[in-house]
Amino acid sequence: MTTLAIVSALLDEQKGLLDQLQQPTKRMRAGRTFWCGQWSGHDVVLVLSKVGKVAAASTTATLIEAFGAERVLFTGVAGGIGDGVKVGDVVVADAFIQHDMDSGPLFPRYEIPLYGRATLDCDAVLSAILFEAVNTGLAGVGDHFHRTNLLEAPSVHRGLIASGDQFVCDPNDVACMRADLHTAGHLPLAVEMEGAAVAQVCFDYGVPFAAVRTISDRADAQAHMDFSAFVQQVASPYALAIVSQFMKILPKQ
Ligand code: ADE
Repeated sequence: MTTLAIVSALLDEQKGLLDQLQQPTKRMRAGRTFWCGQWSGHDVVLVLSKVGKVAAASTTATLIEAFGAERVLFTGVAGGIGDGVKVGDVVVADAFIQHDMDSGPLFPRYEIPLYGRATLDCDAVLSAILFEAVNTGLAGVGDHFHRTNLLEAPSVHRGLIASGDQFVCDPNDVACMRADLHTAGHLPLAVEMEGAAVAQVCFDYGVPFAAVRTISDRADAQAHMDFSAFVQQVASPYALAIVSQFMKILPKQ
């Protein structure tokens, strides 16, 4: 059976997922703790990527090389920068771009040098399963949960996510980032710090990859406030509901 890697950026996001692991075994490698076990009859390995593109790339390469990961799922939070993408919404990635990639004048803005492209697509089949899992999983979370956390029922979006080594918390930065990306033909829904790196390593190895992000902030001055509370109270229960459903409907290979 193939091994699925489930990668989270932050400990709180990962905690609920770890509780679901059957026959967990712990292995240390490259400064990270990898939890191997079973979930709904699938072989899985859970790990924290740590934060930023280099940490995420290193984690992904280790997952593939040392743990035999043949499919990769990323769950985490992101800042909403697309029109109508609000706190509490969920974005399933179709593709990733690095908003801080600029090797001009040698290569066009955003192009990954020697890859001939700026965006890397997620796996269509795995992303479709993830999208279905988000819709079904979050339907089970219920209105009471949203009222308790002062949220509207979440909208589920699909599209481009931008990654970079920056926690974005300034509307001027967002306006510049959006304008520059739009000029180059890219319309990102959300910004975070790892996904494009995971996508690139998975692309290199030909490993299918899908990613889901709960919107924790609008990348403005309020972005850092209540970040941990949001992750604990909203993003973590969402991740658990989504991944539990994903594991149920993921075909065995
Ligand atoms: N992850 C969650 N919110 C973010 C933000 N505003 N910028 C970068 N990464 C994030």
